[in-house]
Amino acid sequence: MRGLLSPSLMCADVLNLQSELEALDSLGVSYIHLDFMDNKFVPNITFDPTLIRSVKGVLKNMRRDIHIMAYEPQQYFDSMDIGEGDIVAVHYEACDDLRAVIGEIRSRGASPFVAISPDTAPSVLLDYFDIIDGVLCMTVYPGFAGRPIVEGSFEKLAEIRKLIDENKSGLLLEVDGHVSWDFCKKMRECGADIFVAGSSSIYQKGLKLDESIKRMNELVQ
Ligand code: DX5
Ligand code: ZN
Repeated sequence: MRGLLSPSLMCADVLNLQSELEALDSLGVSYIHLDFMDNKFVPNITFDPTLIRSVKGVLKNMRRDIHIMAYEPQQYFDSMDIGEGDIVAVHYEACDDLRAVIGEIRSRGASPFVAISPDTAPSVLLDYFDIIDGVLCMTVYPGFAGRPIVEGSFEKLAEIRKLIDENKSGLLLEVDGHVSWDFCKKMRECGADIFVAGSSSIYQKGLKLDESIKRMNELVQ
């Protein structure tokens, strides 16, 4: 399977979100990465749940890739209108009963992913391999765009890939954080499938979106 892109909407022109979404949707991009933050699990706030809900009405081709950096994320599922076709990544570090949260995502017809922050060991994921569709590996400390990659991130991606392959689980591996022009090919070689493209690549100043998407697709194919 070729690498798939998930541009990070919080890095786009937030004063023109509809045109940003329509442009990406017309370029054959697979996912749109929607970061939700509660200002508790991470010290920041991005889009509110109703904006994440309204994105659904704009998309014709892309699927929502919703990354919830919040404690007890299930409290937002209704307002986000979580449903068929969505990827929903919830943090291992933010859920009291992660199995129940994963079950709730599944019951809505969406695809549950478990996200782990840089200080969390990949081995914690094994308990959930039987009920999830993928893993989101944070390669920066979550909460802000533009952060530097955390030391050891490539090794961590390769370790998760090894766990997935050893368990024949067929899970997808998403990489989020400083997926830069220089790093994305190496992240692919370490086993990543889905690439969150943000301020370190396609949203750098002065780049043409269509050319950037084409270039990133070539680097992660
Ligand atoms: C950060 C978010 C990322 C971020 C990626 O917590 O999860 O999606 O927007 O953007 P860059 O490329 O700036 O790390
Ligand atoms: Zn994210």
